[in-house]
Amino acid sequence: MHGSKLYEGQKLALKYFTVAIVLFGAQLLFGLFAAIQFLYPDFLFGVLDFSINRMVHINALVVWLLYAMIGAVYWLLPDEAGREVVGIKLGNLAFYVLTAAVAVVVLVYLFVQIGPGKESTIWFITEGREYIEAPRWADIGIVVVVLIFLYNVYATVMSGRRTGILAVLMADLIALAGLYLAGMFYTDNIAIDQYWWWWVVHLWVEATWEVYVAAVGGYILIKTLNANRKVVEMWLWIEVAMMFGSGILGLGHHYFWIGTPEYWWEIGALFSALEPVPLVGLFVHVLYDWGKETGKGNKITNVPAFSWLTVETFGNFLGAGVWGFMHTLPQINLYTHGTQWPAAHGHLAFFGAYVAIMISAIYLAIQGKAGLKELKMTKAGWWAISLITVGVLLMTVSLTISAYVQTMVERGMHGATWEGFFAAQNNEWFWQGICWRLVTGVMVVVGYGFLVYDLLTCTKKQPVKESEAEVAAAAA
Ligand code: HEM
Ligand code: HEM
Ligand SMILES: [Fe+2]
Repeated sequence: MHGSKLYEGQKLALKYFTVAIVLFGAQLLFGLFAAIQFLYPDFLFGVLDFSINRMVHINALVVWLLYAMIGAVYWLLPDEAGREVVGIKLGNLAFYVLTAAVAVVVLVYLFVQIGPGKESTIWFITEGREYIEAPRWADIGIVVVVLIFLYNVYATVMSGRRTGILAVLMADLIALAGLYLAGMFYTDNIAIDQYWWWWVVHLWVEATWEVYVAAVGGYILIKTLNANRKVVEMWLWIEVAMMFGSGILGLGHHYFWIGTPEYWWEIGALFSALEPVPLVGLFVHVLYDWGKETGKGNKITNVPAFSWLTVETFGNFLGAGVWGFMHTLPQINLYTHGTQWPAAHGHLAFFGAYVAIMISAIYLAIQGKAGLKELKMTKAGWWAISLITVGVLLMTVSLTISAYVQTMVERGMHGATWEGFFAAQNNEWFWQGICWRLVTGVMVVVGYGFLVYDLLTCTKKQPVKESEAEVAAAAA
């Protein structure tokens, strides 16, 4: 370890993490508004409509995860490469440019909201592509910032130590950044537009981001458990091969409804059904290392980071693997598409696969910043992880119950008709699920409060170290 003296790259990582946590709060706030509007449609009507709240909710999610992902790379890069980040001044400049751009985009979302639907709208207000609606000027800015980031990573690794974790990250980041370009050119044919848009959304979360978390998860295992690097890196290569193998053609499960040729039904069904396999690998990997490394007498040196990583492996497997598999076969998707089913899956998958591991990485950085050998879980930390995890799990269950009513009543019984839609919307079970989403959502928001408090205070609340206690005893 580097002791409490941080690399400049790690200080930059802390800046990225700070903005990430603030945007996480914004994400939850706007999700809360949208959830209230499901039950009280007049709430903020004409001021912040559902469409705006929903857009800010999911865009903030994607942007804060990207901030945290860049932050985690800047954190581990100098440690793994054994040297300071090359081009750190440029990296800092890019951070401020990006953050200013994000602030302007959000203000325009909130105060301008919609444009006249001309070319200027795409350039200056919103592109209207779900999850990545940033206007084109910001797209171009993002590309520049990402190029600087890639330069920092490549130049540092080239002149430093090259570990397997870094090799996987280098290859993955190129793919991740390159895919963003597919979401930048606009056509007014909505089928063609969706075809390319899915390259970003699906090939991010089901291929490149999964590989990213496998690499960062490996690093966290080495740091918190002193896991054997050889074992970690062997798993990493297997997972990378399986994720790309299933995730890339798994793209087909988004091509059932947009007018693409019918062969996508079979391709999508087969390859997306295989996607849970690497997630099982990831799952086994963490549990295996846990059993093996703690059996050797190794202690968990950062309990919150390790606990959040465990939530990640269960959550990724359940949210992406199980809840994804439930509606991925075209025969089933015929009934589930456009119901609350994808929303149930989307919440647990994004949370389980990405939110949890990013919080884990932030705890690792908090420990490093304070220069502590060990970080124990505080009471606030337990409240945070319990309320957030149980809240999202129960929210997923609530939405799944609502979705079940929609598939059975609206689609199954009424054959996707207009009357069927209202029969399902007015069904008691459906709206109870929507009520519970609000209740469980509030749980998550309260958990977020505990999380922020804990991140700010946990290093000051650590038990006195044994050695210090012994010193004190000897002096007495
Ligand atoms: C961490 C990984 C994943 C994340 C974050 C994720 C997230 C999402 C989100 C947010 C949507 C809704 C998109 C929209 O707004 O239209 C979605 C759709 C979908 N996901 Fe996933 N997903 C993941 C992995 C998977 C896996 C592994 C499978 C299959 C085994 C899967 C199957 C599906 C299907 C079939 C849809 C389309 C539903 C429809 O349009 O009817 N997902 N996913
Ligand atoms: C870590 C926590 C959360 C994550 C990862 C998350 C993620 C998402 C995603 C991916 C979607 C799009 C789903 C789709 O269209 O398929 C979504 C929509 C939504 N979320 Fe969240 N969310 C979180 C927390 C919350 C909270 C706390 C609330 C409410 C209190 C909330 C309320 C909503 C609502 C109302 C929608 C719109 C659903 C619809 O269009 O039917 N979310 N969220
Ligand atoms: Fe997908």
